[in-house]
Amino acid sequence: MLSWDEPTPVTNLKPAVPMPAKAAPSVQGGTSVPALKSANDAARLHSGTQMARDERRVRVEDKRIINGSADVNQLVPFKYKWAWEKYLAGCANHWMPQEINMERDIALWKNPAGLSEDERRLVKRNLGFFVTADSLAANNIVLGTYRHISAPECRQFLLRQAFEEAIHTHAYQYIVESLGLDEGEVFNAYHEVTSIREKDEFLIPFIDTLTNPDFVTGTPENDQKLLRSLIVFACLMEGLFFYVGFVQILALGRQNKMIGAAEQYQYILRDESMHCNFGIDLINTIKLENPHLWTPAFREEIVTLFHKAIELEYRYAEDTMPRGVLGLNASMFKEYLRFIANRRAQQIGLDPLFPGAENPFPWMSEMLDLKKEQNFFERRVTEYQTGGALNWD
Ligand SMILES: [Fe+2]
Ligand SMILES: [Fe+2]
Repeated sequence: MLSWDEPTPVTNLKPAVPMPAKAAPSVQGGTSVPALKSANDAARLHSGTQMARDERRVRVEDKRIINGSADVNQLVPFKYKWAWEKYLAGCANHWMPQEINMERDIALWKNPAGLSEDERRLVKRNLGFFVTADSLAANNIVLGTYRHISAPECRQFLLRQAFEEAIHTHAYQYIVESLGLDEGEVFNAYHEVTSIREKDEFLIPFIDTLTNPDFVTGTPENDQKLLRSLIVFACLMEGLFFYVGFVQILALGRQNKMIGAAEQYQYILRDESMHCNFGIDLINTIKLENPHLWTPAFREEIVTLFHKAIELEYRYAEDTMPRGVLGLNASMFKEYLRFIANRRAQQIGLDPLFPGAENPFPWMSEMLDLKKEQNFFERRVTEYQTGGALNWD
């Protein structure tokens, strides 16, 4: 307990990211003003102050995605309109897990003949990955990526994205709770199930780079570290590691099983597809603004990471579907992962890694074409309320 005689505890007052000199308007503005001797002096001082103010105003050309010097507290003038548009689209797609009716899933799960053992394993392993994956994603954004990005439009999207990751974790928890699954088993799968742990162990060093409080951008080496982590996060985590899981639950939904969970995943897929596209735009803009980072050695390293991620995701597919289930089998996923990896590679300007790979699940693209009022599986049970009525009593 604090008493007034004790010294005030010292907190770490050092800002996580040094504010650029130009970006930090003085709160007090306490510059000393010389005594004015004439009206001319006053006019000169006025025009000097005006120039200083103009100098401090944000100009579009000063904005940069990384290492920018423009004030991060001023959203406008917009430079990166793609980021702002994605932020608006994310808000327009808002949803909450409790809006989705889980009753038929609960009845199916409780019915001993409702699902096969392989289907149950698939659902549990699937949730075992996702229940912690979106917390990793959220922490990566909030504690890592956010502070290294100096464009306020992009920060605005990242704030929205962080909330969506919270909604996704909520959705997975809601499914676990609705079905009455063993929470300890599902939430610890990332420690206890090898195929899940290996995916997370692959990701964690790249997240740690960004969340390390001593890490700052501004050198080619560190800027490459940031770019590498952004590529791993957008292209390999959100853009690849999620997709075996999405296909599995959406395939169940297409067979009229676990339709509530499938509906939740459909909304999550739509959000994740936006996150992935935002990440790719972010990566490509950093490349445009910093072409020196995109060296042949760097590209080669990224290709190696793609191959490693595909290998891990394929192992996860085999582990969740050891015998083939729902008309799906692990080898179909091999082709699917190659197809997706080609797409991600091309989206960031790399050659396709597996020329000619085809999509064995063309129906997945329908899943993205989701209108809020027309759900693929079932109509929503409640409408999202954009603002509850205030009651002053
Ligand atoms: Fe997510
Ligand atoms: Fe995401």
